[in-house]
Amino acid sequence: MNKKLAGSALMQNPPLVKEILQAVVAAVNVPVTLKIRTGWEPEHKNGVQIAQIAENCGIASLAVHGRTRQCMYRGNAEYDTIKAIKQNVSIPVVANGDIDSPEKARFVLEYTGADALMIGRGAQGRPWIFREIQHYLETGNKLAPIEVAEQRQVMLEHLTKLYDLYGEYKGIRFARKHMGWYLDQEAQRQFRADFNRLETTAEQYSLVECYFDELVQN
Ligand SMILES: Cc1cc2nc3c(=O)[nH]c(=O)nc-3n(C[C@H](O)[C@H](O)[C@H](O)COP(=O)(O)O)c2cc1C
Repeated sequence: MNKKLAGSALMQNPPLVKEILQAVVAAVNVPVTLKIRTGWEPEHKNGVQIAQIAENCGIASLAVHGRTRQCMYRGNAEYDTIKAIKQNVSIPVVANGDIDSPEKARFVLEYTGADALMIGRGAQGRPWIFREIQHYLETGNKLAPIEVAEQRQVMLEHLTKLYDLYGEYKGIRFARKHMGWYLDQEAQRQFRADFNRLETTAEQYSLVECYFDELVQN
């Protein structure tokens, strides 16, 4: 995408951003949302300018990843630019980048004043993070860690959905990635090695079942 000056690289060309956003908004009858980074490189953080263009073009809400394009995933996301964007537009702003705990979620919401949060990697292998955050924001207390029985149920359901969606060949490969995120501790290394060697969805499914059966027995 970036090689074609699309995605976040487009931020180098505000007039083109404007042209594209106007065309998209005019072409459809549904709300159009946009996601941007803070700029294309740390010396050129024009997120506020792009956000204002987006608002003027009729974009309905704006998600902002607190890194520049050049930063890729390096370093830490910064929230000052997201805060500045929030202060300079009136459309809803969604803060994104490195939110991986209820405490971080509350900090980012409060620091930026954003209307909502977007979470990517923090939810990989931990899809219950959303309810953990919601509970913490609502009560100020941390939810008890997810029970083993529920984790088992979530993972098996996830496997079934991956297999339904992607079929046998691709399903196996996506499952390896996701199970690796769920069970990413040192103590789970053997499980990952065993799981990654399996070549059928049925074997994968039953290894996860066995893993949890053993966990409950011990
Ligand atoms: C597997 C994966 C796929 C992604 N795909 C996209 C994408 O298609 N478009 C996009 O703007 N960002 C994409 N991102 C970036 C995320 O939306 C997000 O901005 C980034 O991961 C930072 O948030 P996080 O720290 O919560 O992961 C993707 C991220 C991941 C991990």
